[in-house]
Amino acid sequence: MRVVDVINKKKVGKALTQEEIEFFVQGYVKGEIPDYQIAALYMSIYFQGMNDEEIANLTMAYVNSGETIDLSGIEGVKVDKHSTGGVGDKISLIVIPLVASLGIPVAKMSGRGLGHTGGTIDKLEAIPGFKTTLSTEQFIANVNKHGMAVVGQTANLTPADKLTYALRDVTGTVDSIPLIASSIMSKKIASGADAIVLDVKVGSGAFMKSLEEAKRLAKCMVQIGKALNRRTIAIITDMNQPLGHEVGNANEIREVIDVLSGKGAEDETTVALTIATYMAIASGKYHDFQSTHAELLQVIESGRALEKLKDFISIQGGNPQIIDEPSKLPQAKNHIEIRSNQSGYISRIDAEHIGLVAMLLGAGRKKKEDSIDYAAGVTLLKKVGDYIHINEPLCILHTNLDTIETKVLEAYVFQDSKPDPIEYIHEVVK
Ligand code: URA
Repeated sequence: MRVVDVINKKKVGKALTQEEIEFFVQGYVKGEIPDYQIAALYMSIYFQGMNDEEIANLTMAYVNSGETIDLSGIEGVKVDKHSTGGVGDKISLIVIPLVASLGIPVAKMSGRGLGHTGGTIDKLEAIPGFKTTLSTEQFIANVNKHGMAVVGQTANLTPADKLTYALRDVTGTVDSIPLIASSIMSKKIASGADAIVLDVKVGSGAFMKSLEEAKRLAKCMVQIGKALNRRTIAIITDMNQPLGHEVGNANEIREVIDVLSGKGAEDETTVALTIATYMAIASGKYHDFQSTHAELLQVIESGRALEKLKDFISIQGGNPQIIDEPSKLPQAKNHIEIRSNQSGYISRIDAEHIGLVAMLLGAGRKKKEDSIDYAAGVTLLKKVGDYIHINEPLCILHTNLDTIETKVLEAYVFQDSKPDPIEYIHEVVK
């Protein structure tokens, strides 16, 4: 088989066979096929798309390119959750203890942040002592014994996705629905999930800018799940402003504590409870949305959720005292108050822009190798729909840098009339 024939076939919109897909994925991982041919092929996929069968085959070719995690040693249906990436997105940290409180095993493999989006592993490492590198045996033992564990992604999971993602990033082929869907689903399947709940973000701070595109991505991933026998539910949630009030690492942990204490921001709490409810339903242990949602709310109100978070932190070596004394989390030396340069209702806060500001303050990485400052971040004092007077504080920048140059005010759009309320949950695709 010749790669050029596969490229030519896709270029004219024909469907690739399983054999052809396995051929180019394996050839690329082994270094037998050069970047430029895969780049040409992926550009053809970008323009011509793929059918459901090709997408499922591409997903499995990524899965088979590396090691897979066998979670069969954990009793019950293992539910994983994945977000397509947002700003201030700390939902995983909220739902892990919440869902585990219902007796549903949560075995979560998570990643680090890059660019304007944060990563669960970085946020957890803001907790003094917290360990995110567990052996697979330890990971499984923790889930069996305590009902929950989080681990950083192992190096050899879906290497084909790692390689092709890096290539897509520099060849303009990231925003292709079949390529995003197979990339995300391959990691979830390789990490052993039986059921998958996807938080598909839509809006200015997300990959998918329109509801139409988000729906197409959601349907595509649910279809892959069906084809590969994994119960999959996708929830399309809003990312037209950062989620909650905190963007960063240590400050996001503080907000997780607030949500699990019942004092969280409305958007964060609504999205977290919805995702947790669907995780419980995907596990097969719960069936009805309203009663499951009410039970989870009760878990928060009774204080059990916060206790579970404390357990989670202790089990993985972190200092649980941060729950009662959040001042034990890393603190920045500078807190810079940014005041509004006009009066009006806030109609938009560009999430990507705020994410980039947080990165420049030290909270994120420009390149994979960069180190991050756990104390850095942004606190949003006002959100979309709030009225602000000129000179009133809008947000606070936390940083250890002595000189900063950020144009944070450019993220805000104001208007004279009160904007329509934001819908936090747009659609559920099953
Ligand atoms: N997240 C992924 O893991 N892969 C993509 O292609 C896009 C977002």
